[in-house]
Amino acid sequence: ISSENQSILSAYEWLTKLYHHLLRYTKDGKEGYSYFQSRNVSEHAIDEFQLGFAPNIKDFTAEFLKKKGFHQQLLVKAGLVSLQDDNSVTDRFRGRVIFPIRNHLGQTVGFGGRSLGSGEPKYLNSPESELFQKGRLLYNFDLAKKHIRKESRVIIFEGYMDVISAYQAGIKNSVATLGTALTEYQAKLINRYVDTSILCYDADKAGLEATYKAANLLLSVGSDVKIAQLKDGKDPDDFIREYGAEAFENEVIRSSDTFMAFMMRYLKKDFNLSLEGDRIDYVEAVLKQLALIESSIEREYYLKELSVEFNLSIETLAQEINTLRENSG
Ligand code: CTP
Ligand code: MN
Ligand code: MN
Ligand code: MN
Ligand code: MN
Repeated sequence: ISSENQSILSAYEWLTKLYHHLLRYTKDGKEGYSYFQSRNVSEHAIDEFQLGFAPNIKDFTAEFLKKKGFHQQLLVKAGLVSLQDDNSVTDRFRGRVIFPIRNHLGQTVGFGGRSLGSGEPKYLNSPESELFQKGRLLYNFDLAKKHIRKESRVIIFEGYMDVISAYQAGIKNSVATLGTALTEYQAKLINRYVDTSILCYDADKAGLEATYKAANLLLSVGSDVKIAQLKDGKDPDDFIREYGAEAFENEVIRSSDTFMAFMMRYLKKDFNLSLEGDRIDYVEAVLKQLALIESSIEREYYLKELSVEFNLSIETLAQEINTLRENSG
């Protein structure tokens, strides 16, 4: 690690502590504290996740860090402040609650900042850098790691708030991507720790599409995948707040679908199954997905289901799958 990156880490560490302290104990952070209160985030969770508040003052952060001996140029490079035309600087995260994003070693390498009201953008992250690579990090991975290993499964959410709500509900083996689609790097990382990945994305169109892609990716790196789906456009944090931890565990996590059950339902939306041509295309699309499944028992189970639903012989379907499997190596 370069000495410049070492300094950037140090700046993030100072700020994580400062913003957290302000939120937790001072008038300057009261706005942030009230915000988390209004979202039912407990003091314990605020401490665990080191949540903070960056005051809405243009040069607050820069002044603080300059006094600690950091050069302005470094703060710009770290994505903490932006340089104005007149050479003054403006805090990137001013007026936002702060979600420190830690690497697997527990070092803060970036921030996610959420606006308190309806200010846009809703979330602002640190810019991409050597230290902060969104495609290689997972929110909460440092704390979740030991739970993920112990339970041999992980729950993957979309948002920081979903992870925090789940944590408060006693579910500690969860992580979130950082506002981007799950990457192959993240899928491989996860697969080193677990047998099963449970995808629990927001119940909207974007969440559904992201689920489809992430499920295929996880499957391709050899992880078992389950899909926990919510209803009515909700996200996990909304659900937990409305129905409680127990309902989330029982009705969402424990009743999650297998990959294929999800897939068979998901693929249907692209076809009109009252048309013969569409029926054939649908069956072929399902077979393509089935061919990716490693367990022959599982494959046979869904093969039977298809065979009954579409009145096709198991032999024909099995033959088709074998061809697909051979071709994909
Ligand atoms: N995100 C982002 N930039 C945005 C919106 C979202 O980086 N403008 C990322 C954040 O990491 C966020 C995740 O995508 O946590 C999921 O987005 P969304 O579902 O909108 O966020 P929630 O966590 O549900 O936000 P809220 O605080 O409103 O509950
Ligand atoms: Mn604390
Ligand atoms: Mn969403
Ligand atoms: Mn959400
Ligand atoms: Mn939400």
